[in-house]
Amino acid sequence: MEVKIFDSTADLALYAARIFQNVIKENSAPVLGLATGASPVETYKELIKMYNNGEISFKDVTTFNLDEYCDLPKDDKNSYYTFMMENLFNYVDIDKNNVNIPDGNAADTDKYGEEYDKKIMNAGGIDIQLLGIGVNGHIGFNEPSESFSEGTHKVKLTDSTLKANSRYFTDSEMPHYALTMGIGSIMNAKKIVLIATGEAKAQAVYSAVKGEVSPNCPASILQTHNDAIFLLDSAAASML
Ligand code: PGA
Repeated sequence: MEVKIFDSTADLALYAARIFQNVIKENSAPVLGLATGASPVETYKELIKMYNNGEISFKDVTTFNLDEYCDLPKDDKNSYYTFMMENLFNYVDIDKNNVNIPDGNAADTDKYGEEYDKKIMNAGGIDIQLLGIGVNGHIGFNEPSESFSEGTHKVKLTDSTLKANSRYFTDSEMPHYALTMGIGSIMNAKKIVLIATGEAKAQAVYSAVKGEVSPNCPASILQTHNDAIFLLDSAAASML
């Protein structure tokens, strides 16, 4: 696993966007694994800028998002569907038919999860996966647990995640369940870029990079991936 530390989050976002730009340019039908949350927002802004400058096109891009809340209408202001539209897809030339975000309202989540993973496989697999990291070391919504998960599945969110994300749910209750790509689905990506900024992430980053590979810190599995890079600001890297 490679680690790169940046003095400025603007430089970090530009660096991340350049990695995505290269993958988009090198592949005739690029498949991107995308993330939500605060961590990727600046990177998406850089990608939108690149699109506006004519440096990249999303015309032939297919995307798969990591996760989505359960029991939240798709167009709720806090759904990850809405997040992706407002932070990237509405501003680039992607064919919305090629956008895949887990359906947190699927009736049979087991069956839906299998189909989501099959769809990723049928698209040729994920060329590059963007990740954030939770303060508890989660990636996607794969919370610390006894074992590493495999495919896309339903999870109960931990108190740590509920606390971290409840700030967005100012006028409604935050869902307690989510659908998430599994650790297996994430590890199948050919390339992985994880972004972490701020001191609150320092302990999780330390455990992921220097700790033992353990499902107690799901991100630690990335130590075993052959093309994973952590892009950190100095606060997130402060314990390394
Ligand atoms: P954040 O979330 O980017 O909003 O900090 C990251 C995560 O929980 O995976």
